[in-house]
Amino acid sequence: MYVAPSILSADFAKLGEEVKAICEAGCDLVHVDVMDGHFVPNLTMGPVVVEAVAKAASKPLDIHLMVENNNFFVDLFAPLKPKFLSFHIEEEKHPHRLIQKIRSLGISPGIVLNPHTPPESIRYILNDIDMVLLMSVNPGFGGQKFIPSVIEKSKRLCEMIKEQNAKLMIEVDGGVNGLNVRELDEAGVDIVVAGSYVFGSSDYKSAINSLKV
Ligand code: DX5
Ligand code: ZN
Repeated sequence: MYVAPSILSADFAKLGEEVKAICEAGCDLVHVDVMDGHFVPNLTMGPVVVEAVAKAASKPLDIHLMVENNNFFVDLFAPLKPKFLSFHIEEEKHPHRLIQKIRSLGISPGIVLNPHTPPESIRYILNDIDMVLLMSVNPGFGGQKFIPSVIEKSKRLCEMIKEQNAKLMIEVDGGVNGLNVRELDEAGVDIVVAGSYVFGSSDYKSAINSLKV
């Protein structure tokens, strides 16, 4: 299992140190939640802050857009060269076009599905993306309770990936902890995002290790 701590739960007064600490503690990706106050009822980081995060990080960035105007935000964040740049399918009229754009910028495109969104909604773009991010909470805030229907959704998505012989990773975001990670692994999940579980612990290294099942 790859582990992507969400810096949303970090201490923002010492963000650089926090980013360095999770990288040294062995995380695989640094998960960055970009919220615009419209698509979700919260507002987080712009490119100035994320650029500082990128400088402090020795691991690749995994940028999760939770915004209304995806195209505009892709232009803002692509210059920071994240490994993954993911947007919500619920908020995009032309996902296939935006995927091509992200790829043409040398970045791996990802699609995010809210808890209610079926995996069938991305059936015909499965071969065009490198990652699907399944939300296991409603986007907007850290520290929420895990929604268990994501397990079945991940299994269904695995079947679809096999049927289509597609090559992409499954990431789950929200309420992940040391207790539910094994079930996620068994459901075919490749990457877990964990915010409050990692940053709420007194030992980042052991929290991250406990997710590497
Ligand atoms: C929620 C964000 C998550 C959040 C996860 O909108 O996408 O990445 O930070 O936080 P936890 O792990 O605390 O649920
Ligand atoms: Zn996220």
